[in-house]
Amino acid sequence: MPGQHDLKKILSLEIIKNIFDTLDEGILIVDRECRIMFYNRTLSHFEGLDADMVLGRTIFEVFPSITTEESTLYQVVKNGKPIKGRFQQYFNYKGKQIKTVNTTIPITDMGHIIGALEVSRDISVILDLSEKVVDLQQGFGRKSARTRNVGLKYNFDNIIGKSEGIQDIIGILKKASQTTSSILLYGETGTGKELFAQSIHNASPRKNMPFIAQNCATLPESILEGILFGTTRGSFTGAVDKPGLFEQADGGTILLDEINNMGPALQTKLLRVLQEGVIRRLGDVTDIPVDVRIIATTNERPSELLESGRLKQDLFYRLSVIYVEIPPLRERREDIWDLTHYFIRKYNEKFNKNISGIHEDVVKIFQEYKWPGNVRELEHVIEALMNYVDEGQIKREHLRFLSFGAFKNYVEKETPDFTGVQFKKRTFDYEKNLIIEAIKSTRGNITKAAQKMGMKRQLLQYYMKKYGIRRL
Ligand SMILES: Nc1ncnc2c1ncn2[C@@H]1O[C@H](COP(=O)(O)OP(=O)(O)OP(=O)(O)O)[C@@H](O)[C@H]1O
Ligand SMILES: [Mg+2]
Repeated sequence: MPGQHDLKKILSLEIIKNIFDTLDEGILIVDRECRIMFYNRTLSHFEGLDADMVLGRTIFEVFPSITTEESTLYQVVKNGKPIKGRFQQYFNYKGKQIKTVNTTIPITDMGHIIGALEVSRDISVILDLSEKVVDLQQGFGRKSARTRNVGLKYNFDNIIGKSEGIQDIIGILKKASQTTSSILLYGETGTGKELFAQSIHNASPRKNMPFIAQNCATLPESILEGILFGTTRGSFTGAVDKPGLFEQADGGTILLDEINNMGPALQTKLLRVLQEGVIRRLGDVTDIPVDVRIIATTNERPSELLESGRLKQDLFYRLSVIYVEIPPLRERREDIWDLTHYFIRKYNEKFNKNISGIHEDVVKIFQEYKWPGNVRELEHVIEALMNYVDEGQIKREHLRFLSFGAFKNYVEKETPDFTGVQFKKRTFDYEKNLIIEAIKSTRGNITKAAQKMGMKRQLLQYYMKKYGIRRL
């Protein structure tokens, strides 16, 4: 096999290996039989394979799923024609997706093909970035930052809460739904701002027109501006003629969510829309009249936003023609009972369960708890509990299943029982858990776990035996 001999000679030069190993590109060299003769460090990194594992084996042994037609190396060795810029996408041995552009050239000696060399450039990062840019240009932002009428499910009838606070708000907003005045809703996270905004639209004469919600916190200001007001061709690289959300919502309602995160330049532009009822697309010179009802929300108190200058005063006055503060759940504890039962019904249906209710001890705990995440948190707590309880009532002991620590104290307070039996059982469980956790933390390394716990290895082994803990 003269070819292989020559290749071997070339590749035995230390300097060539060293050069290849410093490159950011992957380098693979095969002989005429497609046996791997060289495999540089970068490629080993892409593919998750060590050079020792592949050298001397054919590419078909190392990558069994590749056919001769698909293999650029095989084709080049066979035909002697280089293949340039071939895109390749695959999962490497470690399960990571790799996207490369490869160029494969024949290696010849005195006119004879003695092998082939493939150079691969990892373009995963570049591709991911360019996909994001295309996404932004086409879809203008992620779906999650925006909702349209589809899935608009709330109206005033399914807002739960008999408290005076909530009933007053429902009264005010029902009336306001019949007009076109701007509305500003302030409430901590999870108090139901989106729910109220949807209800207003659904109760209004605009209910069959679009409702578009846009979060003002998730996108950079320049992109948000294009989304809200639209763009014209040439207003920035790659821009197309595209109506903004204001035009799309014409005749309907726009919810500007988390307006407290809108930058000052955009606030000024929004003010103009409110004052004049017209918008101008980015890069355009003409005004387009729009008839849109604006509802804005903030989860920070407007007085603080005004004081710190984060919300322009003029804009605040224009937005808050109708201003409503939704009280946090801890200030309307009388709603907790109804909400709890409402969510139990909801998840009974969703999970096809038949939980009969909730023990009054738990309701009492709920009444004491602060609910920093408000109604959303209560809903999540009920949803989580209903994953663990199969029948009967939700009881105090079930609170121990909640992964978030908020209710731990309440569970430990349960049935204080200091009889000898209880004491022994509890200390037994406690000790056993400590040991399991320690061993887990060292991934099963007993010597290290013992060191961590400040005890001899033998003693730890004694405990493991005592508690029936096998190596984890
Ligand atoms: N009064 C209520 N009756 C029934 N469900 C409610 C009520 N208030 C809130 N919820 C529920 O709580 C969750 C949170 O509500 P929503 O998304 O409207 O909160 P938000 O005030 O917009 O919060 P954030 O500021 O975090 O966006 C929703 O799943 C909603 O269904
Ligand atoms: Mg919201």
